This record gives sequence, C-alpha cells and structure tokens, in this order.
Amino acid sequence: MRGRVREATYDAPPNIALVKYWGLRDRALAIPFNSSISVTLDRLRSRTTVRFDPERVEDHVVLNGETATGGPREAVVRFLDRVRARANVTHGAEVLSMNNFPTASGLASSASGFAALAGAATTALGLRLSARELSRLARFGSGSASRSVFGGFVEWRAGFLPDGSDCYARPLYGPDHWPALVDLVFLVKGAPVKAVRSEEAMQATVATSPNYARRLAELPGRSRSIRAAIGARDARRLFPLIMEECDSFREVCETTRPSLDYLTTTSRALLSEVRTINREAGRPVAAYTHDAGAHVHVFTLRRDVPKVRRRLAHLPGVERSSLLRPGPGGHRVP
Ligand code: DP6
Repeated sequence: MRGRVREATYDAPPNIALVKYWGLRDRALAIPFNSSISVTLDRLRSRTTVRFDPERVEDHVVLNGETATGGPREAVVRFLDRVRARANVTHGAEVLSMNNFPTASGLASSASGFAALAGAATTALGLRLSARELSRLARFGSGSASRSVFGGFVEWRAGFLPDGSDCYARPLYGPDHWPALVDLVFLVKGAPVKAVRSEEAMQATVATSPNYARRLAELPGRSRSIRAAIGARDARRLFPLIMEECDSFREVCETTRPSLDYLTTTSRALLSEVRTINREAGRPVAAYTHDAGAHVHVFTLRRDVPKVRRRLAHLPGVERSSLLRPGPGGHRVP
C-alpha cells in the first residue's frame, strides 16, 4: 500500500546545565548516573522539518544547508529508526534542520537539534506524545535534549527503574520565575571543535577518573541546594553552587585518562576574572559555568550586567558576548 507524505516542523532551544549530566549508567537505555538541572535559553533555536515519504528508501539529512554524512547523519538515522519502529512505518525521511544562530558560534547544540528532531518526527507520524514522553524519547538522541523539551528551569531525573521509564525531564520553574536572572555568554576565539562526542568522553570519565565516585556522592546534596536556591531566587546561595558544580565537572574531565581539557587560555581567564569580581565585591555578583566546550556562560543579575560585561568582554580572546534569558521550551511550528 502506498502511504502519503507526512511532514512536520518543530522548534527547540538549547539549554545550559547548572548540574551537569556526565556519565551513563545504562548506555543502551540512555539512563544517566545522576539527575541534572538546566536553564532553557531564549532567542536561540533549532528548527527542524521532517518529511516521511513512502517513495524514499534512504534518509537524507541536511544540517544548516549542508548534506550530513558519517557520524552526524548516522545519529539522526538511528534516532529516526526508533521513531519509525514506534509508529510501525519504514518510510525514508528528508530532514532539514537550521539553527537561527551561526553554527560556527559554538552555541550549536545537540540538545536543541535532537529535541527539535524528536518533536518533528513524532508529530509527522501522528504519534501525539505528551511533553514527558517526548523528553523520554529525545534523550536517546542526546541526553541534554531531554531537557530542551521544556522551558525555564528544568530537571532531568535519572529515575530508579531499570527500564528507564521514569527517566525524563520535568519543568521545575517556568521561564518567568526569576526575571532578574540572566546568562551572559562569552564566545571564545579559536574554540576547538569537539573532537569526541560528549557521550564517548563522559564514558571515559566514568571508566577512568578516580574522582567520579566522589562527584556522584556529592551530587544529590548539591542538586537539592541548587533547586532550593532557584526556588527562593537567591543569587547569593545559587552562584557559588553553580561554580562549585562546574569545578567538579571540570575536575572529573581533567582527571580522565587521557585528560579532557575543553578550555582555552581565554576561558580560564574568564573563570578567574569572575572569581576576582566576586572577591572584590565581597559577594557573589556572578557565576561561571561551561559545558564540554570553551565558551563560558556567566550568570548574573540584570542590574550587574554592565559591570560584569565591562570586566569580561575585553579580555584577550573574547570574540563577543550575548545576553540570554530563561526561555520557552520546544514547540510545533504550524
Ligand atoms: C557537559 O547530551 O549534549 O553539556 O550529544 O553526546 O554531545 P552529546 O551529549 P550531551 O552531553 C551534555 C554534557 C554537558 C552537560 C549537560 O548538558 O548536562
């Protein structure tokens, strides 16, 4: 029987983790060792259209105007296979995905890409998933994508069940919960392009970092404090915790064999200058964090943006800075 062409378009934003996901307990089921917490970012998004065509045998994937091949294509095809199996179809698909920010900016994220792909592919095939189910599915593309389904402050729960059915993200607070909180992103010149996918890198950390077990033991307490500080909109409590968590993440990366070093001299200078600003002010004015990359996110309050920007934007090697806020989650584009 010949079916019809079915297509849908979905938008999804990137997110920045305050409590980092770093390590899978079950790789096949994409279940992480620890729950993570992130802020969904406004203004940036991936927009993905998926078009299932019964006449098409091979999937064709175009990312930011270029036909994808090799690993990036394979990851999309594997994800589509999962969606096809669920909908009981075998059609090939055309996938068109665009970021509304320059790919070379280094803000490109597998989180926004896979959340958008999950939304577009399931909608096209009429699967009508709830946001929770979409989050549960998106984690198979990229763990951090499970959180981009929701806006605002989001927690991805590792869950307890061996089948991963309680492993999904849920919103903690909406995008308007804390209007004064902003994320200044400092893009660093010459940031190396990720050599290894995070999924590979984090499993190397699990296998070789002598400090990984200690990090895991510390996380439930730190996460509880971070959740409480967000709930109370308490920057004095939150900012030191964000940095402590980022330092813990960096430490297990650096003690991985071979060592994982994501920062450049400029990234390190940014972290150091944030510490100096806080020391001089005698209070936590700002908090740095970074993912598996060289760009540095600096959380601060709106009133402190000019001061923080003045101190950080002119450090040698800083390309530019962007002011981002908590924003809405993924959604269908009509
Ligand atoms: C450090 O889920 O984005 O950003 O898709 O393999 O790159 P890949 O993995 P991904 O890893 C995220 C790691 C992190 C922390 C986080 O976002 O929680």
